[in-house]
Amino acid sequence: MARKMRFLLILLVVAEVLAVARISLALTSTNDAYPSGYGDDSGACGVTGEKLVPVRREVYGNGKIFDITHRITSDSLFDGSEGDGKFVWLSRSMKNGSDYNFSIMKLPVHSGTHVDAPGHYFDHYFDAGFDVDTLDLDVLNGPALLVDVPRDKNLTAEVMMSLNIPKGVRRVLFRTLNTDRRLMWKKNFDTSYVGFMKDGAQWLVDNTDIKLVGVDYLSVAAYDDLIPAHLVFLESREIILVEGLKLDDIQTGIYSVHCLPLRLLGAEGSPIRCILIK
Ligand SMILES: *[C@@H]1O[C@H](CO)[C@@H](O)[C@H](O)[C@H]1NC(C)=O
Ligand SMILES: *[C@@H]1O[C@H](CO)[C@@H](O)[C@H](O)[C@H]1NC(C)=O
Ligand SMILES: *[C@@H]1O[C@H](CO)[C@@H](O)[C@H](O)[C@H]1NC(C)=O
Repeated sequence: MARKMRFLLILLVVAEVLAVARISLALTSTNDAYPSGYGDDSGACGVTGEKLVPVRREVYGNGKIFDITHRITSDSLFDGSEGDGKFVWLSRSMKNGSDYNFSIMKLPVHSGTHVDAPGHYFDHYFDAGFDVDTLDLDVLNGPALLVDVPRDKNLTAEVMMSLNIPKGVRRVLFRTLNTDRRLMWKKNFDTSYVGFMKDGAQWLVDNTDIKLVGVDYLSVAAYDDLIPAHLVFLESREIILVEGLKLDDIQTGIYSVHCLPLRLLGAEGSPIRCILIK
């Protein structure tokens, strides 16, 4: 028994030594700035003779990383308005003799997949500076539950109760009829989307620990309760609303969510990139 143990221990030590040796070898070979091996993933960029076809993906990492952000295009829906065309254009272009291409973008901060800051619906929060730069990245990143809600109702207190979301769950993404109807892909704003009614928002605030509320259309609040439901969520400044998520073709369940807004000083909203990792 003891001999076997000693043998195992020796094996472990040898493996450890080999691993360290491998790493230090890598570190000292050809490049001191970073371990070689990290940069060996070549072939992706700048290889001549290759056909230049960019790959656009929704899923990465062998099915482990899901992009739940909608791509912003000239057809994208901007919160409350119709897609108004061009959002990015070249101000300097190589075709016109510039040494480089250089684009300018202009788009509403509530475009596509985006986040609301407390200042969106509370003027005194806006004046006090509760902008997207003040949002807590700890709320925007961490374990999250993706749930399917009943398709025949808006998000009422009754619906919230029926979901049985356990205490302690801090981030929930709600998939609704909006996803089935592919509303985010439509060019016109559709006021019949599913969203939170005031009592649904209130129930969630009173009875759960949810701090990140994600939905699959441009507004977390149903059109009929647009203002009251937003007020209930944003009043405490503890709940972060992520709107316009792309939740198609993803299984319900537990993921790690990662959402990062731009640090737009003074802005009450920002486009946001969100991913789920299984
Ligand atoms: C942008 O730059 C590329 C080279 O990187 C050039 O081939 C292309 O023509 C430029 N596009 C425009 C619109 O100027
Ligand atoms: C290049 O310049 C021409 C003439 O000013 C303009 O019509 C065209 O839109 C420009 N193209 C780009 C890509 O900037
Ligand atoms: C949700 O509420 C909107 C109005 O805000 C309404 O048009 C829609 O039909 C409702 N959806 C469901 C599934 O009840």
